[in-house]
Amino acid sequence: MTRPEHELRSFGRRRGRALSARQQHLLDEVMPKLALPLAEPAPEPIGQLFPHAPQDVWLEIGFGGGEHLIWQAQTNADVGLIGCEVFEEGVVKVLSAVDTLGLRNVRVSDEDARAVLRWLPPACLSRAFILFPDPWPKRKHVKRRLINPALLDELARAMRPGAELRIATDIGDYLRTILMSFRGRVDFRWLADRPEDWRVRGDDWPQTRYEAKAVREGRRRYFLRFRRV
Ligand SMILES: C[S@@+](CC[C@H](N)C(=O)[O-])C[C@H]1O[C@@H](n2cnc3c(N)ncnc32)[C@H](O)[C@@H]1O
Repeated sequence: MTRPEHELRSFGRRRGRALSARQQHLLDEVMPKLALPLAEPAPEPIGQLFPHAPQDVWLEIGFGGGEHLIWQAQTNADVGLIGCEVFEEGVVKVLSAVDTLGLRNVRVSDEDARAVLRWLPPACLSRAFILFPDPWPKRKHVKRRLINPALLDELARAMRPGAELRIATDIGDYLRTILMSFRGRVDFRWLADRPEDWRVRGDDWPQTRYEAKAVREGRRRYFLRFRRV
């Protein structure tokens, strides 16, 4: 897929260790059934991507090992979940879980999530998640951070009024980047009245692998919820 010239890579490596025979099988046999048809126009309503044509479709960007995506899919069988992740091992983990658990409400993309967002019809998502995006801590790399005003423009287009956007980070400086990106926007409202609202993760929001690492290493986590107005 073509990407706008100004769009910088927001992720690190796409491949890790060589795949086992089972992992390769999942990529060859299961992925074609779950991958989004990005070369064609997106179906409308977007729920047609799923056999049960759900009313509500949720998007997770950068699902990593897929713990959160799979938990949400199992807990919300009536919702359609679209997961985007460019790291092959993560994609394979989700394919394996979908295959083993027989989930019918998950679709997966291994393309840059920003290309997926541009493909989606307007106002089609009722929830979106970006949990612990790559921190890019070095000053010269800050411009690679996924969350910026351009991404929020795309999310605002793809999300319905009333939809919820959930973001988590364990990096204080990224929290600042995020809040600056939302500053002055009238299309999203931060759902925080008191510190617990961003210090405490809700019960319908399971811990990810990356969050577990942040806990082990003693970093504070921030959990942000925004309403598409
Ligand atoms: C720090 S990891 C966190 C993974 C997971 N959300 C968690 O909390 O364990 C960030 C993930 O986002 C993915 N990512 C970064 N930019 C992306 C993009 N533009 N499209 C899809 N995935 C992306 C990376 O490959 C990486 O796996």
